[in-house]
Amino acid sequence: MKTRPRINRWTEARRELLFGDFSLKSLVQPHFVVQGSNVDNPVNGMEGIHQQSVDVLIETIRKDVEHGITAIMLFGVVEQSDKDEQATKASDSTSHLHEAIKQIKSEFGDTIVIMTDVCLCTATNHGHCGLVEHDHIVNDASVHRLCEIAVSHAQAGADYVCASDMMDGRVSAIRHALETANHTSTGVLSYSVKYASSFYGPFRHAADSSPEFGDRSTHQMNINSGYGEAVLEAQLDESEGADIIMVKPGLPYLDVLRKVADCVHRPVAVYNVSGEYAMVMNSAKDLDSRKKLVCEIMTSFKRAGADVVVTYHAREIARNAWLQ
Ligand code: PBG
Repeated sequence: MKTRPRINRWTEARRELLFGDFSLKSLVQPHFVVQGSNVDNPVNGMEGIHQQSVDVLIETIRKDVEHGITAIMLFGVVEQSDKDEQATKASDSTSHLHEAIKQIKSEFGDTIVIMTDVCLCTATNHGHCGLVEHDHIVNDASVHRLCEIAVSHAQAGADYVCASDMMDGRVSAIRHALETANHTSTGVLSYSVKYASSFYGPFRHAADSSPEFGDRSTHQMNINSGYGEAVLEAQLDESEGADIIMVKPGLPYLDVLRKVADCVHRPVAVYNVSGEYAMVMNSAKDLDSRKKLVCEIMTSFKRAGADVVVTYHAREIARNAWLQ
């Protein structure tokens, strides 16, 4: 079984996220989950975004839900001392991230859509998105670890596991692993078209996931690559069974988003990344000018074909009712 179209129809929250008119319910709010309790650390360069321990996170989500947010994306931030070569912590079912997924699921059930980041970079001691052998990021062994991480998230209660690593063949491998573990209603969101962009700076700070040596250019797409490669990556993931296709970053790649949205048959998401968020927050200090910028940006994503927008602006949009 490669594609299960019912996955995107499984809950009302999923249907509204993917198939409703473009609205507040089309937005996904990212969160950075840290170990401990009562932790609420502002993230450098990302005003309004905090690293939070599970207890604080639950309260934040409760408030967000009251304001109408129905989808979240969780990133687990791993303590330095817990990082290793194999990214062991990333698939440890007792980790704070897994605890967060379980608690959110038990508290909010199917009323919200829980997306979880599946990558190695937050849990490897070298900060790379895959396993490293002889200074190279190896593909297939990394995919094996990604499958273990994805299944562990599904087990904890994730609606969608979100492969952000850009290894070849990971979507079909993850789909297969989910099937084998009987998680037939868990979807795969693929970061299909993800560029080796300079717009991820603040995020890497927030997730503590900067590579210790080298960069991500052997797996993320070259910023000069043409539409052909973007379409190829998107269609490959679609054929491998991805339930949602994502383009990332957003604003510098609106043209790519349009191309991809026109050539796939699955819902399309765009990631309005940390560097884009920081630009807006740094340039528009008062609420009114921010409202205009943020609404114009959301409109541009919608026009370019996005069904879903992952954005750090979601909370402010919800609290001020900028999008109904
Ligand atoms: C992990 C990952 C990254 C982002 C999302 N997932 C960083 C990267 O690829 O280097 C970036 C998100 C953002 O900048 O907001 N691989």
